[in-house]
Amino acid sequence: MNDLAGKVSIVTGGASGIGEATARLLAQRGAPVVIADINDEAGAAVADRIRRSGRVAEYQHCDVSQPQDVDGLVAATVQRFGRLDAMIANAGVQVEKPLAETTDAEWDRVININLKGTFLCCRAAVRQMLKNGGGSIVATGSVLSLVAEPVLAAYCASKGGILMLIRSIATDYGRHHIRANCVCPGYINTPLGDGYFAIQPDPAAARRAADAMHALGRMGEPDEVARCVAFLVSEEASFMTGSALVVDGGLVAKV
Ligand SMILES: NC(=O)c1ccc[n+]([C@@H]2O[C@H](COP(=O)([O-])OP(=O)(O)OC[C@H]3O[C@@H](n4cnc5c(N)ncnc54)[C@H](O)[C@@H]3O)[C@@H](O)[C@H]2O)c1
Repeated sequence: MNDLAGKVSIVTGGASGIGEATARLLAQRGAPVVIADINDEAGAAVADRIRRSGRVAEYQHCDVSQPQDVDGLVAATVQRFGRLDAMIANAGVQVEKPLAETTDAEWDRVININLKGTFLCCRAAVRQMLKNGGGSIVATGSVLSLVAEPVLAAYCASKGGILMLIRSIATDYGRHHIRANCVCPGYINTPLGDGYFAIQPDPAAARRAADAMHALGRMGEPDEVARCVAFLVSEEASFMTGSALVVDGGLVAKV
């Protein structure tokens, strides 16, 4: 399928997990992709693998919490490819703490990367998309944009904020042909999830418990989220904006 041919796309956090799967899929479907991350070695390797498969990809270092990095990322993308059609604001981190134990530094780190990073990426993208005549933004929220999970106070706050930011962008820029949506994954098998399980008293039991939280009886795979992101980017989703596309194997549906 080449339905995203020529749709110039940026994927932040594209060196790993959901971002990597998304970068690969968008490129496979014809989009020139710029992978942005702070993990330069892994990010460059992802871009290299995509190029070796005959598709178009570049890697650029970008800390999404830094305005100069983010503005530079969009400027370099436009310089290289002439436009920007899709911004996948996906980079994120997690700190496993309840509110009372969360330090100022931990709060700032999670909010600066997850929420401010999404703001900076969306702002730079919207400024360019207004010149382009439109575009599509997809932010990676979480089921924790919708419901809270214990011991993840800052993370839940950041993910709730991302969904409302996306709804605001959808509201402000719909008439400029800019669509903005959130994907809200359940537990997905990625290094971020591995970090969460590793600090549990019994990691194997925690994984089994996580599987059981989903109506489908298992966690998801990065490709299963990537397919939903590609859908939101594509014209198939032409009447979707401001939405929270829940990709959670039935986690939120289940008590
Ligand atoms: N894995 C899950 O269960 C799950 C569930 C719901 C939502 N999410 C969200 O999905 C997104 C991707 O997570 P993942 O599970 O693929 O994790 P991951 O750890 O595999 O990938 C995250 C990537 O973001 C990059 N990154 C971290 N800080 C950055 C920064 N300041 N600037 C640029 N890049 C940075 C990392 O280097 C890494 O490559 C995150 O926003 C996460 O919150 C994950």
